[in-house]
This record gives sequence, C-alpha cells and structure tokens, in this order.
Amino acid sequence: MARLLLLNGPNINLLGRREPGIYGKDTLEQITSRLEEKSKALGHELLAFQSNAEHELVDRVQKSMDESVDFIMINPAAYTHTSVALRDALSAVNIPFVEIHLSNIYGRESFRRKSYFSDLAVGVISGCGALGYELALQFAHETLSRVVKKNNS
Ligand code: DQA
Repeated sequence: MARLLLLNGPNINLLGRREPGIYGKDTLEQITSRLEEKSKALGHELLAFQSNAEHELVDRVQKSMDESVDFIMINPAAYTHTSVALRDALSAVNIPFVEIHLSNIYGRESFRRKSYFSDLAVGVISGCGALGYELALQFAHETLSRVVKKNNS
C-alpha cells in the first residue's frame, strides 16, 4: 500500500464551469472521487488538496515529508509557468511526482510552453483531459510496484 498525494493549483476548483472547451466538463470533485475509488481498488490511500494560494501549496508539499507520502500527482495550473517556490518545495521533499495538465500546454499560448516542473518530474501528462489524472494514478501505481519488486529481488 502506498500513500499518494493529489495536488491541484489555482482555478482548478472551477473545473466544470471554467472554459469547458479547454478543460472539460468534469468537476474537480468528480475527478477526485473517481481517483479515490481507483486508488482504493489498487490498494493505495489518496490524499487530495487544492489551493489558489502558492504558499499553501508549498506548505502542503513540505508537510508530505512527515506523512510518508510515496508519490505526488500535481497539476500546478498557472504556477506551472511561474513558481520557483513550488518547484523548490518538490525538489526539497525529494518525493517522485508526475505533472498533469488537462490541456496540451504545448499547443496553446507560448507562455504555457515553459514549465518549472517538467525536468524534475518522473513523467508529464498533458492534453488528455480529466483522463490524465487516471493515467497519472496508473503511472504512479506501476512506478511504485517496480520499486517494490526491485527492492525484493
Ligand atoms: C493547466 C494549464 C495551465 O497553463 C493553466 O494555467 C491551468 C491549467 C491544465 O491543466 O491544462 O490553470 O495546468
């Protein structure tokens, strides 16, 4: 069993109502409850947190150090393109993470093509809509299973 942390940045609380042509119709609540169910089915515990404030996300990442979090799934939203502080927090806790974007950040405005997270991430999922969160969970599960197998062999 692993402990997974799902983090969502600013404006992700508006999913479902926010530019549905870009971000889809699913609400954050729907995405999170699907992920909770699937995590449970895979034998993992899911912690979830969303904030519009950079310092709260930094604090949440720091807290994960003392909570034995094994893997982080994060959509940093607009902080993807601006936040050295959140990048440094992820680097400091040294917990593997996957970066998620609902939209394809490489097919949009040029300022979205720069991510402060991608080079540190184990993987990046961009443009798969809400399904991206489920792919991230599957990825976390398989990555952690490989680590367990390696440690047992
Ligand atoms: C986003 C892409 C970001 O550029 C944007 O600021 C968001 C959402 C996405 O999920 O596609 O808020 O991270």
